[in-house]
Amino acid sequence: MVSTDRLDQPEVPTNRYEQLVQSVVDYAIYMLDPAGNVVSWNAGAERIKGYRADEIIGQHFSVFFTPRDCVEGRPGQLLRQALEQGVAQDEGWRVRKDGTQFWALAALDVIRDEQGQIVGLAKVTRDITDRRESALQLDAMRAQLFQAQKLEALGQLTGGLAHDFNNLLTIILSSARLAASSQDPERVRRLLEHILDAGQRGTQLTQRLLSFARHQQLNVTRIAPAELIDSTRGLLEHALPSEIVLEQHLQPDVPMIQADAGQLQMVLLNLLFNARDAIEGEGSIRLEVNAVELSGEVEGLHGSFVCFDVQDTGQGIEAKVLPRIFEPFFTTKAFGKGTGLGLSQVYGFAKQSNGAICVISEVGVGTRMSLYLPVAQIGP
Ligand SMILES: Nc1ncnc2c1ncn2[C@@H]1O[C@H](COP(=O)(O)OP(=O)(O)OP(=O)(O)O)[C@@H](O)[C@H]1O
Ligand SMILES: [Mg+2]
Repeated sequence: MVSTDRLDQPEVPTNRYEQLVQSVVDYAIYMLDPAGNVVSWNAGAERIKGYRADEIIGQHFSVFFTPRDCVEGRPGQLLRQALEQGVAQDEGWRVRKDGTQFWALAALDVIRDEQGQIVGLAKVTRDITDRRESALQLDAMRAQLFQAQKLEALGQLTGGLAHDFNNLLTIILSSARLAASSQDPERVRRLLEHILDAGQRGTQLTQRLLSFARHQQLNVTRIAPAELIDSTRGLLEHALPSEIVLEQHLQPDVPMIQADAGQLQMVLLNLLFNARDAIEGEGSIRLEVNAVELSGEVEGLHGSFVCFDVQDTGQGIEAKVLPRIFEPFFTTKAFGKGTGLGLSQVYGFAKQSNGAICVISEVGVGTRMSLYLPVAQIGP
């Protein structure tokens, strides 16, 4: 029954397809003869290209191409490719009847009769000017963003350097001032040693920068925490006002850790200077070093770590400020007093060293910063 019906009404599907093709307005759908002349035209073609069917049927499809494409033989190339390979696709500028141009996405497909003879080509063209413009805008925005990120990274690097040098200069200046007014030759000798030490740190810093420029890795070595604390304490002693007491508690036999010693010292100085700045008048800073076993309770870390705690009796950190303290350039200090880079460096260092930094703080009571660093693997 079904097949009889179809034999009785052979025209119906063809008409329906014609109706369908005719009613599509977002795509130009038309046929070319094998020589490239237009033989049919739909509503979408009229809307996109501006020609009515009676104006364009019989004309060669190269009228849709730009003069430059025509000189380069683009229409002929596409036609040949479609006839040889059965299909050709193209994206490029096309010209409307009024001379304006649009960016087209076009496909050319060969149509064959039942004997396999080529009877023509189906051409489907879409105006994707808007899509192309958004893609170009997106590219431009990406390029801008990339440039901004590059500048920001450069700014952070420069600021970070200024910050580290500033910490060292604080030590050098305060030691030099004390030495200048001291009558005790032994004390002057010790102060000069601190100045030398800080100067050497500065040299290491520039060397690190040079190595950064050559894209070298961090200088990770096995470090004995006790030795590191001794040298840091020596650097710090004269940068603390006499009202602030520095207490130190080192668990005996703390295992070796694995990190960049120079950077770790900078990081500890950052934490200690922050603690100093939080204390108005009298107070104390406690530096504690302990071995700890972690099983996920600190930022999901597992294994053996050494924890450096810097605890102060300062003003504490307000709850609304707390989530922002590790952001680069975030500071609550007066203009010229803080760059806001200290803790972002601490954070970056902790992450890069496969450790973590945690903070507990209560306004009016004090702050405790805990830096976790992995214990060095046993071996060479
Ligand atoms: N121990 C602390 N007690 C109270 N507030 C702190 C403490 N440590 C950090 N903060 C807060 O976190 C902010 C950011 O600290 P960060 O070290 O990144 O920058 P900074 O100390 O302001 O500037 P810089 O380190 O360049 O001197 C500080 O401005 C301060 O508000
Ligand atoms: Mg700081």
